[in-house]
Amino acid sequence: MWYFYSPIVVFGEDALDHLETIEGKKCFIVTDPGIKSLGLLDILTEKLAGSGKAWEVFADVEPDPREETVYVAAEQCKMYNPDLIIGIGGGSSLDTAKAVWVLYEHPEFTSVDEIHPFQNLNTGKKAQLIAIPTTSGTGAETTWAVVITRTQEGRDLKLEQGNKGVIPTFALVDPVFTRGMPPGLTAGTGFDALAHSVECLISTWQNVFSDALAIEAIRLILEYLPEAVHHGDNMKARELLHDAASMGGLAFGNAQVTLGHAMAHALGAVFHIPHGTAVGLCLPYAMEYCIRDPESSSSTKKVSLAAKSVGVAHWSDEDTKAADKLVEKVKWLQKETGLPPSLQALGISQEDLDENMDHLITLCMESASTVMTPRSIGVAEFRKLFEYMYSGRNVDF
Ligand SMILES: [Fe+2]
Repeated sequence: MWYFYSPIVVFGEDALDHLETIEGKKCFIVTDPGIKSLGLLDILTEKLAGSGKAWEVFADVEPDPREETVYVAAEQCKMYNPDLIIGIGGGSSLDTAKAVWVLYEHPEFTSVDEIHPFQNLNTGKKAQLIAIPTTSGTGAETTWAVVITRTQEGRDLKLEQGNKGVIPTFALVDPVFTRGMPPGLTAGTGFDALAHSVECLISTWQNVFSDALAIEAIRLILEYLPEAVHHGDNMKARELLHDAASMGGLAFGNAQVTLGHAMAHALGAVFHIPHGTAVGLCLPYAMEYCIRDPESSSSTKKVSLAAKSVGVAHWSDEDTKAADKLVEKVKWLQKETGLPPSLQALGISQEDLDENMDHLITLCMESASTVMTPRSIGVAEFRKLFEYMYSGRNVDF
């Protein structure tokens, strides 16, 4: 028996109009200063005004949102007493909105620690949560994950909380918000969506519902990401990429990410590399490592199926050849969209890598995404992968 969790997804041009049909009069909006200054918040509030809804805004979400920020927003939310909570922005704003929703619905909770898979959450009693993504990448509008940063003993710790009760009631996936995204952000977030889709295909939690969404998301991203990067005003490309990111979110939200995200989270924590850049860098190495598994051909078969389904390989190709073709296509896409193919290209020195290697490996070994990885991996393999990643060498072990 398996479950597939999803919000009600409203997508495509004018998806925002759906707000008019959602019951509720008082909206508490959670967002970041950039969304406000770019005028994206105005697009939302104009629509709310036209629907006769009132609103109050919390616009202080920072990148990698901090636990304290969640508590301040939750207090403001409780004072306002809304019947709708709207998260608008990238993953940080959406994750903060999810956490605020839980603390609003459960005033007895004093900490985000209460958001965990075994908690019996009763969200939706006081307010519905509407998630509106403004980038095409994280898929946070569809998932049950909440990533919050806590400072503990002088070090920043990323709390990866999750519960199906934080899945938004609605995901409004309207491409209007992505029109002005700069090329670098478009590429990085697009690669995040690609990594979600590829990594969950080979996860130990893979399932047929996720597979279908992941493969179509991969096809859309390969086809439309270069266009969205080079011609950002192509709204067809923007719309289909936005859809693909939510599809990737649904796919990995129900099947989990694997090795690439484990290594990318470690690189992000140590070298402060943006998430999209880090997962984009790690993806081909993670794919190569999994499809070279000497003990099982399951990843090779799955990546081959994706390669053939999206038209990168011929149906007559051997699985190993077809899987390699998808890896090559991903490497091509890195170049085409200007993402660094190696740690060296990212400006990290060999000394920096050597100095931080043990810490990187520890973080990888502690990652839940490593547990979901289909090929067994330990300290020696992680070390080798980071070394190969440094110089951009093809994984041959
Ligand atoms: Fe991601």
